[in-house]
Amino acid sequence: MTIFFHWSEATPDIWRNALTAENIPGDLRFVEDPGALSDINYAVVWAPPQGLLRQFENLKYIFSIGAGVTHITLDPDYPSEVPIVRLQDRLLVQDMSCHIIHWVLHFHRYYARYRQYQGEKKWLRHRYPENSSRRISVLGLGQTGQDACIRLSDLGFNVTGWARSEKTIPGVRTLASNDAFDTVVREADILVNLLPLTPETTDLLDAGVFNRMPRGSFLINVARGSTVVDADLLSALDCGQIEAAALDVFREEPLPADDPYWSHPAVSVTPHAAAPTNEGSAAEFIAGQIRIAMDGGRPAPIVDLARGY
Ligand code: NAP
Ligand code: GLV
Repeated sequence: MTIFFHWSEATPDIWRNALTAENIPGDLRFVEDPGALSDINYAVVWAPPQGLLRQFENLKYIFSIGAGVTHITLDPDYPSEVPIVRLQDRLLVQDMSCHIIHWVLHFHRYYARYRQYQGEKKWLRHRYPENSSRRISVLGLGQTGQDACIRLSDLGFNVTGWARSEKTIPGVRTLASNDAFDTVVREADILVNLLPLTPETTDLLDAGVFNRMPRGSFLINVARGSTVVDADLLSALDCGQIEAAALDVFREEPLPADDPYWSHPAVSVTPHAAAPTNEGSAAEFIAGQIRIAMDGGRPAPIVDLARGY
């Protein structure tokens, strides 16, 4: 039983300790010296080198060191017959909600204006709507979307969540189906994107969506950059249809130096930092799932490739 490990930002000892706690030998193989590739049964990875996983002929499971899996599946040569187990992690979910709440409050209370007043040494308070009249639409009601909805609802916001399947979340209006998407968008004073990147969600947020949102609304994208048509978003920002956007994810990462988002006055850029994987809790979760696989069980959650997430 051999584990291949790939994550350039990792502290290997954290992972070894988590494996040891599950009675799994912690002799990890790394890309620099993977040994005999046919020995490798499990791959624990973030953004592995293209074509590499395909070479592990005895690979049983791929464990994603992240909630999203496009860092694996966008490799045209990845072994699609090997199940991918994605990360479920309470701390990741908590961090994501904190990031979203930060930007919701920033936009809702128009805090950017205070920065401007400060520059002008102007002691001025502005008005903002009651929380209950600020409509927030959350796209995606998986582990992160549900938590964000609950916390935003607890803060008194008027929250609507949208997913493929019906959901019940106390205090939150939930909608499903493509027809409901129109309502979700039209009523989004603040639109929060937490959808996985799939063929259906690629380029989903385009001019048609931005033009249907209320004038002067806000976008928070923490999902994946390719869900947004960048030229359409920039046009919507330029004309004030979208007042401001907080973007954490981009079609190309790192964001190239000449990308217009960097210097757009209505855009806040963060470097895919909304919910960085917490090594301790992620290692614990993945080691637990490897133990289940070694005992002959089925680790979870396994990505459904037909759905794309
Ligand atoms: P998840 O648990 O898989 O949930 C995905 C949600 O999206 C589900 O509710 C699903 O609906 C819904 N969905 C998928 N395709 C849809 C479609 N075509 N129409 C409507 N709803 C659709 O995902 P998660 O763990 O919450 O993570 C969401 C994404 O956030 C990840 O895929 C990743 O890209 C991103 N992420 C970013 C960071 C960061 O630091 N920026 C960190 C973690 C994750 P059903 O419930 O009906 O299946
Ligand atoms: C980060 O983007 C993740 O998918 O966990």
